[in-house]
Amino acid sequence: MDHFTTRSGVLHVEDVAIPAIADAVGTPFYCYSSATMLDRYNAYAGALEALGAKVYYAMKANSNLAVIKTLGDAGAGADVVSIGEVQRCLAAGIPAARILFAGVGKTREEMAEALRLGVYQINLESEGELRALSEVATSIGIEARAGLRVNPDVDARTHAKITTGRKENKFGIDLDATRAIFDLAASLPGVSLRSLSVHIGSQLTDIEPYREAYERVRDMTLELRAAGHEIDHLDLGGGLGIAYGAETPPDLKGYAEIVRDKVGNLGCALSVEPGRFLVGDAGILVTRVIYVKQGGEKRFVIADAAMNDLIRPTLYEAFHGVVPVVNPDAPALDGVCDLVGPICESGDYLAQNRALPALGEGDLLAVRSAGAYGAVMSSTYNSRPLIPEVLVKGADFDVVRRRQTVEEAMALDAMPRWLADG
Ligand code: LLP
Repeated sequence: MDHFTTRSGVLHVEDVAIPAIADAVGTPFYCYSSATMLDRYNAYAGALEALGAKVYYAMKANSNLAVIKTLGDAGAGADVVSIGEVQRCLAAGIPAARILFAGVGKTREEMAEALRLGVYQINLESEGELRALSEVATSIGIEARAGLRVNPDVDARTHAKITTGRKENKFGIDLDATRAIFDLAASLPGVSLRSLSVHIGSQLTDIEPYREAYERVRDMTLELRAAGHEIDHLDLGGGLGIAYGAETPPDLKGYAEIVRDKVGNLGCALSVEPGRFLVGDAGILVTRVIYVKQGGEKRFVIADAAMNDLIRPTLYEAFHGVVPVVNPDAPALDGVCDLVGPICESGDYLAQNRALPALGEGDLLAVRSAGAYGAVMSSTYNSRPLIPEVLVKGADFDVVRRRQTVEEAMALDAMPRWLADG
């Protein structure tokens, strides 16, 4: 269940009416429900509690400081993929000891900074990264705790751009090459490689691929131990999907059973890295209709949010539900319509071929399930400033990122010497 409900014909986020927020901050804006995030976090952590598994929030899904702090205060650690993400976690109060640093290409500078700050573990994805970590850790005189991300070659049955655990994907180390990496690590100074990690993809609605992946991790753990390597931790990745439309959301209990059956009795500490599952359904993008026009074949609802604010429909053909903020249950008009933005590209749409009620200039629309990979993937394309993010808690709301001004967006540009004087 989430906390987006209709009261007296008006969509509310927890106890706040969306038009009240629109009046206060203007449109478009992202709006998040604290209670929904916390419900999802508690469900995830609760399902795995008996196994002692710890939740590291994959903050790439939504890295607003207030979102990180909401989950951090509830007990989450963080899975990060850049030193910028480390800094955001620290600023939001998640201590370095609760940070796992992953990612396919960490630079030496990032590794050095992460080690100085004291992150819990660095997950490696190549021999080059292992050698770099050894050099960096040795030069600053510490032993780095590390994990190795393996590529289990499992089909996650999700969108091609967000599948990560096939041989043809850039992620992790082939299982066949894993033993040699551990042997190499044992001979290198400054690194203590004692963990395996796996992440097979994102937006999985079928949990069966995890069974295969975790079985391979289990076999690898036993093989490495037989070869004399100590493995004390397994990082099981994220990827559990949400219901954007008609999908059946994955069953946490079933997922926890797979974890227990496959890797629960190896004597390893366990961690998971969910992103979308915790925050996806907790957010909406609120946009206002600018114009409605009838095209040759369909109706176009032109709104003030665009592909630069939410790129998922354009990039992944992703479906996001669209509902009017006032009278969301009004009957749809005959024929389909596209919800599009003002950007000069045919790919600029938030929804296509939808049945929507009559809409007019000034009406508010909510684009659902936009809490994950929404604001974080936005850009200023067409010189459209970044839009605000608002967090709701009960009957209270606050702006947790204000609207960028055009002046701020331009401030990083500079004239070269030869144009400056003219
Ligand atoms: N761990 C690793 C190593 C990852 O690469 C990711 C996501 C996660 C955890 C969290 O996955 P989640 O639980 O959120 O599925 N921009 C795309 C999704 C990209 C996911 C990248 N990696 C989208 O909008 O669908």
